[in-house]
This record gives sequence, C-alpha cells and structure tokens, in this order.
Amino acid sequence: MSHSVKPFALKDSPALIERLLPVQKLSAEAYKEQMSNQGKTLTALGSYWKGRKPLILNKACILGCLLPATDNPKRDLEIFEKLMAMDDESFVARWPRRPKPREILAVLSIARVTDYFVSDPPMLLPASAPVDWSKPELKDVKVAWRDDISELDRRRLEGEALKLAEMPYRKRVEAAKRPEEVMDSVHDHIWDAVNNHLGTKAHSFPDLVEQLGIMRFGHRPRMADTFCGSGQIPFEAARLGCDVYASDLNPVASMLTWGAFHIVGGSRDGRIELECKQRQLLETVQAEVDKLGVETDGDGWRAKAFLYCLETRCPQTGWMVPLIPSLIISRGKKTIAELVPDPDHKRYAIVLRSGVTEGKLVAAAQGTIGRDAKFSDAYLMHEVEGVSYKSRISTLRGDYEKPDGTTSNRIRAWEKVDFRPIPNDVFQERLYAVHWMRPKKSGKSFDYEFRAVTETDLERETIVEGFVGKHLTEWQMKGWVPDMRIEPGGPPRYEGLNLIRSRGWTHWHHLFNPRQLLVIGLINRYATIAALKFAVSQAANWNSKLSTWDGSPGVDTTHQTFYNQALNGLFTYGTRSTAALTKPVAPDYKNFPTDESRLRVTCEPATAIAGHHDVFVTDPPYGDAVKYEEILEFFIAWLRKDPPPEFSDWVWDSRRSLAVSGEDEDFRRGMVAAYKRMTECMPDNGIQVIMFTHQSGSIWADMANIVWASGLRVTAAWYVVTETESTLREGSFVKGTVLLVLRKRHGTHKTTRDDLAWEIQEEVEKQIRDLTGLNQEAKGLYRDENVFEDADIQMAGYAAALRVLTRYAVIDGRGMAAEAIRPRVKGEATFVDGLIAFAVDTANQCLVPQGIQERHWKEYTGAERFYLKLLDLEAKGLKTLDNYQNFAKAFKVRGFRTLMGSQKANEARLRSAVEFGKNEMSEGSELHQSVLRAVLYAIMELAKNLDGSDVVAHLTLNVPDYYSNQTQRERVIELADYLAKKLETLRPEEASAARVLRELVKNQRLG
Ligand SMILES: C[S@@+](CC[C@H](N)C(=O)[O-])C[C@H]1O[C@@H](n2cnc3c(N)ncnc32)[C@H](O)[C@@H]1O
Repeated sequence: MSHSVKPFALKDSPALIERLLPVQKLSAEAYKEQMSNQGKTLTALGSYWKGRKPLILNKACILGCLLPATDNPKRDLEIFEKLMAMDDESFVARWPRRPKPREILAVLSIARVTDYFVSDPPMLLPASAPVDWSKPELKDVKVAWRDDISELDRRRLEGEALKLAEMPYRKRVEAAKRPEEVMDSVHDHIWDAVNNHLGTKAHSFPDLVEQLGIMRFGHRPRMADTFCGSGQIPFEAARLGCDVYASDLNPVASMLTWGAFHIVGGSRDGRIELECKQRQLLETVQAEVDKLGVETDGDGWRAKAFLYCLETRCPQTGWMVPLIPSLIISRGKKTIAELVPDPDHKRYAIVLRSGVTEGKLVAAAQGTIGRDAKFSDAYLMHEVEGVSYKSRISTLRGDYEKPDGTTSNRIRAWEKVDFRPIPNDVFQERLYAVHWMRPKKSGKSFDYEFRAVTETDLERETIVEGFVGKHLTEWQMKGWVPDMRIEPGGPPRYEGLNLIRSRGWTHWHHLFNPRQLLVIGLINRYATIAALKFAVSQAANWNSKLSTWDGSPGVDTTHQTFYNQALNGLFTYGTRSTAALTKPVAPDYKNFPTDESRLRVTCEPATAIAGHHDVFVTDPPYGDAVKYEEILEFFIAWLRKDPPPEFSDWVWDSRRSLAVSGEDEDFRRGMVAAYKRMTECMPDNGIQVIMFTHQSGSIWADMANIVWASGLRVTAAWYVVTETESTLREGSFVKGTVLLVLRKRHGTHKTTRDDLAWEIQEEVEKQIRDLTGLNQEAKGLYRDENVFEDADIQMAGYAAALRVLTRYAVIDGRGMAAEAIRPRVKGEATFVDGLIAFAVDTANQCLVPQGIQERHWKEYTGAERFYLKLLDLEAKGLKTLDNYQNFAKAFKVRGFRTLMGSQKANEARLRSAVEFGKNEMSEGSELHQSVLRAVLYAIMELAKNLDGSDVVAHLTLNVPDYYSNQTQRERVIELADYLAKKLETLRPEEASAARVLRELVKNQRLG
C-alpha cells in the first residue's frame, strides 16, 4: 500500500462501523470501565453525573466512522482491534506486570535463545528454552532482551508466555488494565501494520485521525455532540485528535464538558498551577472555619463527620423522640447509639458505646423507625415505662386528602430566610454523634473515635448557626449560597416534591444544614476561577442533608447525595467537616493533554447548532431514564449567580421546556427538530452515530420515525451490553446501548409495501449470512469465541430492516417524513409500527437454533421459541439477563420472568424442568398446552423416577392432538433430543431424562 494521504480518497467509502464492530469484546471492555466507578477518567469532575457513556465505546464509534471498510473485512477487524488495544500484543502492555526474560525462558520453547536474549555471564545459558532455572549454575545468570528486538516481537513472546491465547476475552479484560491506563505505551507496536493497511503515515492517534479526515473530508475531522452531558463523547474525540464542538442545554453538563477539555484534557503546566490553587482554596476555607473554632475540640482532635437525625414530639406521650432507623453507628468499631430516657424532660439523652458485643450490635439495628413492609409508610416507635407507642410518620406530618383528591399536610413551608427548623416545626434536627480524628504519633495516619455530643459541641453548633444566620442574606445576594426555589419535577418521578411535602423545604439551600452552608459557601466564595467551580458542585454533592451515613465495616463515611437519583429526605445523615471534603474538593484529576484550541463547548439547545460538522456522535435523552433537567437544579442553584467568565454566557437555568424528554409526541418532535438541524450541518458524506438505551419495545419504530423525519437513513445498528448489578435496587439493573449509524438520505426513492417485504427479507438474510460468515472467517483471530453472538445477529437483522425501510422517502404513496411525525392515536398501531413489526418477525425467522427443523420452528409459540433459543445460548455459556429481555421482546413473550430460574444480571438462566414442577401448565401461562411444556413435564417426572409408561401416558394427555396429529409426536421427539443435547453439561440428570423420553416416545406402539 502506498503511503500518500490524498484528500477525498475515501470520500465515498463505507465506514468500518457500517460493516463491522467487535461488539462482544467491546461489551467486555465497556463493562470493565463502568465498574471502575471513581477510577473512571472524568468522574472526579462530577461523580454525581448519571449515565456516562463509556469512553472505550465512544472511541470505537468515532474511529469506526473514520476508518474505511475495505474489501478485506478480516484485516479491517484486526487493525481496528489493534487501534482499540484489544489485540494480544496490547494485552501484554495492559497486563498488571509484563513477564521478565527469565520467566519467558522458563515456560516457552525457543530453539535459539540468543535470537532474542543476551545473558551475563554469556556462555552459561543453555542454547534453547525452556530453561530449568533450578540448576545451581544458573542462579546468578542475568538475562536481558537484545537491543535489536522490536517492541512487537517482544510483546509477541511475552503474550505467549502469559498464555493469553488460551484465555477467554472476558477473563483477559478482567485481569488487565484499561487501555487508557497505559495510554503512553500500549499502541507502540501497531503503527506499521496500521499504516500498511490504510495507506497512512501515522505514529499517533492525532496523526491518524487527521490523515483519515483528509482522506474522507479534505480536512481534520470535525466532530460534534449536541447532547454532550458529562462530555464523555467529545472528550474521547478530543483525545483522538478531532476538532470538536460540544453543546448541551444544561449548564452543568456544559461545565463538566469544559472540565473534560480544559482540566483533564488541559496542559501539564496548567494542571500544576491548578493543584496549587486547589491547595490554597482548601487552606483558605479551613482557616476561615478554624477562626470560628467549630471543627476542633481544643484537645488535638479534629472533626471528620457530624451525624444528625430528625427529632419529633410523639403525639401519644409528649416525648421528644429522635428518628433514627438504625442505632448502629460503626460496625467496624462496634459503636452504637443508646437512647437513655430522661423522664423529667420527656426526651432522650443519646450516649455512644463502642466495642459492644455482637448481640448488642444486632439489637441496635432496629432504631426508632419501623415499617410493616419494605415500602410501606414508616412509623415512629418508642417505649415509655414498658409501654410501646407507634405513630405513623404520615400522622405526624398531618397528611390529609384535599377536595381534589391529592394529599397535603400540615408541615410548615420553610421561608427563604430559614436555614434550620424553627421551634414549633414538626421535625427538629439534632446532632447525635461526632466522628473525631487525630494524627497518630508517627504522623502517618490517624486515630479515630466516635463520641456522644457534649455541651461544648452544642456551643460550637450555636456559633455556626449564629454565623450563618448573620451572613445568609448577604451570601445569597452574592451567589455564594443558593436562594433558588425548588420547582418540583413532572412525571414519572416528580423530583423534589418529596422534599417539599415531607420536610417543608421550598428552596435548594434548605437541603443543607448550617455547617454545610458555611463550608460550601466558603468554598464557593473563594473558588473564583472556572476550574475551581468543580469543587463547589462536588462539595454540595458530598455534603448535603441527603448524604447518607455509612457505618459498614471499614467504611465509616458519608456518601454522595447522588448515590442514586432520588431526591428524598432522610431521617439521619452525615455532615463532612472541611478536612473530610479534601478528596472531592481537590481531587487528583487525571491528565491527558489535548490541543485545547480545537475544542469548543457551549450551552444551547441542540437545534441551535451552526457550521459544518463531519461526524456526529450523540447520546440523546431517551425514555426518562434520568431527569437531567430536574436533578441538576441542585447544582445550578449553587453556581448560577456568580459564574466565572468562561461560563458567564450560558443560561444558568435548566430550561425544562426545551429539554428533550419522555417517550411520546413531544419527545419525537424534539428529537426530529434536533436531528434535522444536525443533518443540515453535515456534508453529504457526513456520518452520524446515535446511541440509545434499549429499553422499550417501541423504540425501533420511534427511531425509524425520527430518522425518516430528519432526512437520514440507517446504514447499520449494533448492540453493546454493559450490565451492572446494583445493590441499590431490587433485582438486576441491566443496561445495553444500541448504536444506530446514519447517513443523509438522498433522492426521493419510492416503493410499495409488497416490494418492501421481499427486500427486507433478502436484506435481513444477507446481513445474517454476512455476519455468521465473518464469525467463521474470524475463527482464527478469535479462536473459539464468536465475533458476534446470536443476539447481535438478531440486532443486525433489525438494523437491516431499518436500513431498507429508511432508504425510501415514499412508501405506498405516503411521504414517510410527514408520516413519521403524524401524531399517534393511543393504542393504535401506525403504518410504521406495522412495517417494523413485519421486519422484526422476518429477522427472527432467520434465527432457527440448530437441532430444530425450520418448518417446526415457525409453528412453535413465542414462549416456546424463547425457551429453546435461550437454552441454546445458555449451553454456549451465555448468561446475561439482557439476552433474555431482548429475546422476550423479539418473541413477544410478555411474562418471560415466570420462565426464569434466576434473574441475576450476569447469572441469568431458565427454569429447569424440575424447577417448573407442575407450574405453568394452566390457561394463564404462555406455555399452556404447548408441546415444550408437556416435554418438560415428562422430563421432570422421569428425573423423579416415575415409571416410564406413566410418564408417556401423562404426556399423551398433555400434548393436544397427540394421536390425531402425527407432527405433534415428531415435535416431542425433536424437543426431547434438543433438550438432551443442550442440557448435557448444564443439567446432566435432566439431559439423561430427556434421552430416555426420546427413546420411550420413539419406541411407543401406536394404535
Ligand atoms: C443521555 S445524556 C448525555 C450523556 C453523555 N453522553 C454522557 O456520557 O455523559 C443527554 C443530555 O441531553 C441533554 N439535553 C436534553 N434536551 C436537550 C436539548 N433540547 N438540547 C441539548 N441538550 C439537551 C441533557 O441535558 C443531557 O445532558
């Protein structure tokens, strides 16, 4: 290949992402990145941000748009994987420790050791390897690589020594570092191969990206993301060397993207300067706080955290009772709070006990808040003189139904000047413990202890309250603390409403107690430059009345407010001292210097984009997964009044009415307006990738509509799975992302529905043939792993269908752009729905599992197909819940959960025959009267050692028309055989029962 970068040489070449993408490997990498939590590259800028798209996925999308698909797909894939650091040699660099020459020689067979290594003293080493290093004469021999051995050859040998080739990809990813953690060196070995394949002369990503841009667009590629959020996509584009335009409606998002560009992506000098400013900020704030003397005990101890609870008067006893769900303060230190009755004052003193017995710890798990069931109304409970009293929290609030049917209560609405409860408020707040720390004598670490609240602690509280009371109005005017009202959000979650209803908080500063207002207010006051404003938002996130205290073993800390996205009031919470805010306020940001002059970020609606942009990669809001425009007001409230010059042109408001949200008509309209405008700003050979979370069945029709109406057409679609299991929610939390690749739609092609049917069928079949073919071809590269699994192929099938559909501007005489935005009538399937449903069915028909005859497959019910298909996948070792959800949608199985034995995110599986027992036989079940159900029933009976003739007798009753319809018996034999094979390793006992069944039915005498 000649190395000359000719402008526009690739102008009309298809992009790699339009032909292939190693989605399985990408899923493993994306999962790894998602699980690294606070270790993620941009997280320190704003750990509160929900829904960061993995950088590795973004990199794949951007590169995939720029690289060409050549007529050698296998080599395309190899080169792409090298660029993504997914090849064996990159894994050597990603390995926690590279093997040393001695280790390599111990395990590899090498004919001539001197071909690679030099030794000292020179003549002692055997001529060939493996070398037995236990020989005494070899003890002191030193071995090193020969200087002339290339990095590539070294890595090849090291990779062999690590036995990487024998390790499944997921295991490799688990053990290795992420590519970006070894950015400096991971790609050293790839450039010759890359340049040879592409005709480029690059030695870095910015070189390569610039050259590919020239070959495709005539200049360095201009990449844009108009829904940039936390900046994950534009940051990756910047790191790769594109010219980047990023924008978002929300100023908090624009600020995070600014931080990605100019802090994480900033120069090394800039970073050193910032570190100094961060230190100064913390010192200044600490000095101000220390002037008040409110975080130290005067005895060498400094506070780390203050624990607060609500307190209320029990309406039955007249006692003031602290509202504390669990009295355990620290499991590690075995510290509990004890409520000591003080009958004279009808209140409780709170004492702390540390080092208590396990029994006491268990007993302390129950505090003064109880519930009958997990989500039922909480009640206050306490005991006076042996008598237990319970009062519902709703009763304390005085909940009542208004004439219009809504609920209200008698909680006082807090005023703007309020910053703590006033004496007659239902809920008072009380400091009940302090976590102290003191440097150890060695000076290296700290001693910690929890103490009950003393008189002097209360005096310090009074000082803080006095100070805040005196300065609140002035600080609000100056914008150092919020004065903004809480506007409750809309459906589905009405964010903020709970705060107003259950606490009476009406303004955002009510979510912070006086200590928190003092410290964050000071941080805001002294954070005078843009790069320090991140300290303010992080301090607010880590230090509000919604910050839970976590006393788990070895934890003893206060969590961030956006631990989850629910803005709900807590009964107890932790407050960090200034010292305990060091990490979030002055983090050690990662640093990947980029050319900042090529990056632009603004705060405007997506429709406002102007100029020319070659590549759009966007991740629009979809389906209300996160209500950005509501929850980010928590931060806007702190930042809006006094922004630094970099952010001062932005509208510091969430502009909810302009936000794209929901899933209905408004959502489609908003999306179409945005994507239409982006299409106008894109050259004819421009390319787009839209990412969206795959969560509702109607998504394909929605996206087809949006694509049509925006003047685009689909050229490919991919599905990347990133599953996480969250302890915060019941069950599993599954996430998968669809990537839709789009080009401009040119011309006004027309077709009819009849012609489309054939075309879709052909395209789907071709796509599936191509991908399964590539699977086979890439076997050498992938050993026993597939490039694509069935679910990917199914997805590609849908994509093929969308590709055909969106090619046409007019179908059956209807202009699709107008059809696409026609308002929907609830419950009625539209023309587009019909087309998509047809396409999806066509794709599914092409996915008959091996061992089932095609003519039978078409006759099985959706639930049967689901079970058979997923068993096939389980037999191949796949167990992500996501597959089950996707196929349930594809096969239209409403109640797939009743067919599941486990629904854990990465340990999902179907119910076994024995687990089914006698369930799912009756009329309500989707397996009712199905041949599969009857076969599973028979297997269950055989596994329980029932007599064979009885089992067959039951089977003939359970299978409808067993005797009158010969095909039914054929199916029983087919299914028994299929189950026997698939269950062989999963459940050998059931496999054996299935074999017995197959023989019993085969040998059954009929008539
Ligand atoms: C799913 S998020 C993007 C997340 C981002 N890719 C990341 O990794 O952090 C969608 C973003 O769209 C923004 N948004 C909503 N409506 C918008 C509009 N009309 N114009 C521009 N941005 C909008 C939201 O503020 C949100 O930041």
